[in-house]
Amino acid sequence: MIWDTHAHLDDEDYKEDFQDVLARMKSSGILRVTNVGYDLASSERSVKLARDYDFIYAAIGIHPHNAEGITAENWDRLKELAKQEKVLAWGEIGLDYYRDLSPRPIQKEVFIRQIEFANEAGLPIVIHNRDAHQDVLEIVKAHPPVYGGVFHCYSGSREMADILLKLGFYLSFAGPVTFKNARHTVEVAEYVPMDRILVETDSPYLTPEPRRGKRNEPTYVREVVKRIAEIRNLTFEDVALQTMRNAERIFRLV
Ligand code: NI
Repeated sequence: MIWDTHAHLDDEDYKEDFQDVLARMKSSGILRVTNVGYDLASSERSVKLARDYDFIYAAIGIHPHNAEGITAENWDRLKELAKQEKVLAWGEIGLDYYRDLSPRPIQKEVFIRQIEFANEAGLPIVIHNRDAHQDVLEIVKAHPPVYGGVFHCYSGSREMADILLKLGFYLSFAGPVTFKNARHTVEVAEYVPMDRILVETDSPYLTPEPRRGKRNEPTYVREVVKRIAEIRNLTFEDVALQTMRNAERIFRLV
């Protein structure tokens, strides 16, 4: 029983075999999946998927790549979506200084604004952080998410993990923890208290070993659970159960 807490099943990559992907997921013990929005259209699609399938939940938000040009009407619509049933989080939001697809001042403004909206909506946040550790940290310290948050596909150092854990955040691990060169990520996965770890796929991206490079899907979250179990010297079932409980706690779902 595993919860893949971050996937993009509305992606075009699943157009041909969406039902097969869901069937594989169900038959391999993936109990729930959170579909995560990155702009208004994908947030709408996430809410629709959550409405159509009992095991799919939604997160809604504007990714830093898409931070430019959001109108007042767009924000109003997102606030409406946040109130829909089975919307569990505001995300993914944050900063991406690796690809820099939106100007940094706009990324920051849109990130801060969405933390405030999440607080008003009573939702935790899902954070995307790529090569922006310092600024992300400054922002979450100055604008704390009242209902907590998750660092999705955590890629920072152990030192940063320490600070985030003290601030109450959860750290989510994805395919990269299975990569052979994942020394830092493994170090963090070894260190984080077991009650603060989540697992995810970020499907269709970040496919874990041994399928690295191919399309990802929620079923492969099993590889992430397996790897964390190895790193922590726990059983697969322990990690599955603990991460499920953690997700239920942060996303307030029992
Ligand atoms: Ni994502």
